[in-house]
Amino acid sequence: MPVDELVQRFGSPLWVVSETTLRSKYQGLARAFSLRYPRVAVAYSYKTNYLSGVCATLHQEGAWAEVVSGFEYEIALALGVPPEHIIFNGPLKRPEELARAVSQGAIINLDSYDELAVVEQLALKLGRVVPLGVRVNMSVGPLAWDRFGFNLENGQALQACQRVMASPMLKLSGLHVHLGTFILDPGLYRQMAGKLGDLARNLAGAKLEYVDIGGGFASHNTLHDQWLPAEYATPTFDQYAEAICPALVSLLPQPLPLLLMEPGRALVDEAMHLVTSVVATKVLSSGQKAVIIDAGVNLLPTVAWYRHEVRVAAETGTPADGGVLEEVTLCGPLCMNIDVLQLRTALPPVRRGTLLVVRNVGAYNFSQSMQFIQPRPAVVMVDGGSVEYLRMPETTEYLRELERVPKRLLGKSK
Ligand SMILES: Cc1ncc(COP(=O)(O)O)c(C=O)c1O
Repeated sequence: MPVDELVQRFGSPLWVVSETTLRSKYQGLARAFSLRYPRVAVAYSYKTNYLSGVCATLHQEGAWAEVVSGFEYEIALALGVPPEHIIFNGPLKRPEELARAVSQGAIINLDSYDELAVVEQLALKLGRVVPLGVRVNMSVGPLAWDRFGFNLENGQALQACQRVMASPMLKLSGLHVHLGTFILDPGLYRQMAGKLGDLARNLAGAKLEYVDIGGGFASHNTLHDQWLPAEYATPTFDQYAEAICPALVSLLPQPLPLLLMEPGRALVDEAMHLVTSVVATKVLSSGQKAVIIDAGVNLLPTVAWYRHEVRVAAETGTPADGGVLEEVTLCGPLCMNIDVLQLRTALPPVRRGTLLVVRNVGAYNFSQSMQFIQPRPAVVMVDGGSVEYLRMPETTEYLRELERVPKRLLGKSK
């Protein structure tokens, strides 16, 4: 799809989603795990990118939904996901949101005892036993996200599971772990599977319906302090599955529970790029060349962690690969000194009007982007030769829609 044509039709900057990549990522992940474990379901982590068109594509492929708020839960329902295929996680589940999830039969993973008390009350009110998973956190290698759920090493996780099992109104239905994000070492998952298996075997009497291993698989991106580029460092789905599945199969009690996972970035990161235009070039006081583009940190918050690949679009007439590279600082359009996308990066010579593509930015950018100084641009999905809107560009009217100006402020000042 010629990038200059896309920009002529839809403007710049422009988010571009590849439907083919999205589908093939899902299929690759599902295949890698289904080959190695008897019953698998992949629940897409909505917060990574909850554009409805993105979620709907993954649901067509068979994805369940993993949500961490009432708002995300509503998007999943609106897209037709059956509640029993929605996993409700996170530290804030409002009582009314829990009530809806419980009554509709969604999968709920418990984050705290406060939440347990609410669910127990709901079960009493409904007069039936409510199934509940327990989120477990653990220390594995350098990873220790201990603020979510209950800690394994200090015994809290076991106690929480026993507390659920002891309740006449609750049933322990699953164990949930989410180790962290962009985990480049599959060996850490093997350790996690071992610890999860040990915990499951210690829960005599529990009939676990599922183990949920969360997300965290890395995508083809490069962290600032990462030496090897993504093509060498990012494990394949098969490598992750090989680290996880045999350990679970040998350690979990029989009959094996359903294996749930909640990938986010590994499914969507590479399926979305941002097209942007050079608006000016200049030389800074240090002698460094600055390239100013029309997309800023308000659209790409993940530049704080990743050295995203930036390419010159071949159609713009500038030599994409043949030109001599120059070291430049890539700045956004915001009138704020913080709006720097890459401090010292190598680009072929560019000039006003050159189109650039910031690659693999589908994860955690759109959902964390904001209108700040500039409204957010359109999102389109490409599939072979066709292009369709997933989201229209924001307008001033849209941005002001929720605002109210008290009448007294509109008259002349005294
Ligand atoms: C509970 C939970 N599941 C899944 C994910 C998705 O993680 P990732 O995008 O790294 O796959 C997250 C993100 O942090 C999470 O908090």
